[in-house]
Amino acid sequence: MRRPLIAGNWKMYKTIGEAMDFVARLKPLVADASHCELVVAPPFTALAAVAATARGSNVRVSAQDVHWDAEGAHTGDVSPRMILDAGATLAIIGHSERRHDHNETDEQVNRKLRAALAAGLEPIVCVGETFEERETGRAAAVLERQFTNGFRGLTSPDFSRIIIAYEPVWAIGTGRTATPEMAAESHAKLRSLAREGFGSENAEGLRILYGGSVKPENIRGLMAQPEIDGALVGGASLMAESFAAIVHYR
Ligand code: 13P
Repeated sequence: MRRPLIAGNWKMYKTIGEAMDFVARLKPLVADASHCELVVAPPFTALAAVAATARGSNVRVSAQDVHWDAEGAHTGDVSPRMILDAGATLAIIGHSERRHDHNETDEQVNRKLRAALAAGLEPIVCVGETFEERETGRAAAVLERQFTNGFRGLTSPDFSRIIIAYEPVWAIGTGRTATPEMAAESHAKLRSLAREGFGSENAEGLRILYGGSVKPENIRGLMAQPEIDGALVGGASLMAESFAAIVHYR
């Protein structure tokens, strides 16, 4: 059985004070949520404060990105060691906003992923097609390219530590969620790629989250799909009450 995971990606929102307030409000709302794993991904500036506030609770902390080097001349970047040092244990890698804003490539995603794994971080790797790619019938091919290049060279034990987030770009921040059936179809495609590349045990154990306009109103339908193992939530994760409502989807 794959353990469901609900993660909140705060993107470029929240000061340190706002982030700490959020966690203090969230903790009692989700203290009884034993049916799933819970993650929040604050901006780097609030990472250490959130990790300290969440310590001892069932809320785990993720970075939103990671560099591939342990240290070096990379202005503005943050290394796996620094993330662990701040108290986070996961890192989101290859979010479509980074692919778009910073021209991140599948090859860079692969380098980041290997570095995160080597350092002991748990990676949440994002994949997903644009509207144009879906409209022109290329969605499955895009997932295949992102999977093949992003996960190139990984060993089976490495792959067993990865979480994938399927985030169709056209559904992010638009209020247009993929239907549960559409999401499940893409998840099944990703799972079959995992089976081909890393064997059926890894494929069965792989958690695939859906992301893109997830809200308290649509989480239940999404989680009813056996292929959907959780959610990566943007906008609706910014308020403790709506994030908690998503966590309590059952
Ligand atoms: P929204 O939930 O705001 O659509 O964002 C999804 C997302 O990009 C999470 O990483």
